[in-house]
Amino acid sequence: MAKHIKFSAAGGPEVLQYCEFVPADPAPDEVQVENKAIGVNYIDTYVRSGLYPTASLPSGLGMEAAGVVTQVGSQVTSIKVGDRVAYAQSAVGAYSEVHNVKESKIALLPDAISFEQAAASLLKGLTVYYLFFQTHQIQKDEIFLFHAAAGGVGSIACQWANAVGAKLIGTVGSDDKASQAKAAGAWQTINYNRENIVERVLEMTDGEKVGVVYDSVGKATWLDSLNCLKRRGLMVSFGNASGPVTGVDLGILNQKGSLFVTRPAVNGYITTREELNEGSKALFDLIATGKIKINIPENQKFPLSEAAAAHQALENRATHGSSLLIP
Ligand SMILES: NC(=O)c1ccc[n+]([C@@H]2O[C@H](COP(=O)([O-])OP(=O)(O)OC[C@H]3O[C@@H](n4cnc5c(N)ncnc54)[C@H](OP(=O)(O)O)[C@@H]3O)[C@@H](O)[C@H]2O)c1
Repeated sequence: MAKHIKFSAAGGPEVLQYCEFVPADPAPDEVQVENKAIGVNYIDTYVRSGLYPTASLPSGLGMEAAGVVTQVGSQVTSIKVGDRVAYAQSAVGAYSEVHNVKESKIALLPDAISFEQAAASLLKGLTVYYLFFQTHQIQKDEIFLFHAAAGGVGSIACQWANAVGAKLIGTVGSDDKASQAKAAGAWQTINYNRENIVERVLEMTDGEKVGVVYDSVGKATWLDSLNCLKRRGLMVSFGNASGPVTGVDLGILNQKGSLFVTRPAVNGYITTREELNEGSKALFDLIATGKIKINIPENQKFPLSEAAAAHQALENRATHGSSLLIP
């Protein structure tokens, strides 16, 4: 027997139940991982709430963790029992003491990276990796806008931009979060609860605006984001923290200056094992050399049984950096 989180109906954090289950043996192309630390991601709240419906209910939750391999399926060739591994793109069910994961979604963990660092950074770091180097290639000295810059993805983005020498303008919901984003390497910050995003971006860029906006806040910032873009700029809408962007009239891209818009997802960029190895190596190298520090505040390490509290904190905007569940 093992313990996991499951939910039987979509809803608020209260639908999450901590219960026992009998883990299945891994399929031929899977390994079984005993999770040591589990990543909490905003996307998990979309799955729980029904914004991203699961295939069936009751369902497990979560797609990211790090731990030790305890069993391997008959066709697995690159991973053995005892390996330290991390994953960020499993089928739902990572909020669990053990989870079966496809070999193709497993990254081997370098000795220099702890389970907690890996579980707190893999999905968020792979996201920053494809956003900064594939969706658009950020350049040294390039000024760009990144929303929710003190969050899990945001604090890695600030540090990665800094490592490249790019100038990230980070939006945040409080002055404390502004200090955290600045400390992580944001070039400038905007507190969008009391400052006008577009006016501040115009000031910071001497009226030029920016060529790319990375927007995971969604509904609440969509229009401001478009208004911060230069002619032919790129709007990267990659999340829904304030609700999804819907009903867009494409004419708005013409009116705002022949803009481009994309709605990417990590699974559209990191699909093969090679792509996973490449992205995770880039991330883990930066963590191992101290260029990226993974920020996991002590009060954001929740016991697995308290997954509902972790979701509440995330949705109440009470977190910064990454949150973990500890089995
Ligand atoms: N497309 C992809 O490939 C991909 C992959 C990973 C993550 N994401 C997206 O990236 C975003 C960040 O993910 P994360 O796990 O690192 O979460 P997070 O940034 O740690 O938490 C979300 C943050 O969004 C901000 N926010 C703004 N409006 C909000 C609202 N109405 N309700 C709640 N939060 C609001 C809050 O920061 P402030 O208090 O500073 O406003 C909050 O802390 C999420 O939108 C997620 O869906 C997308």
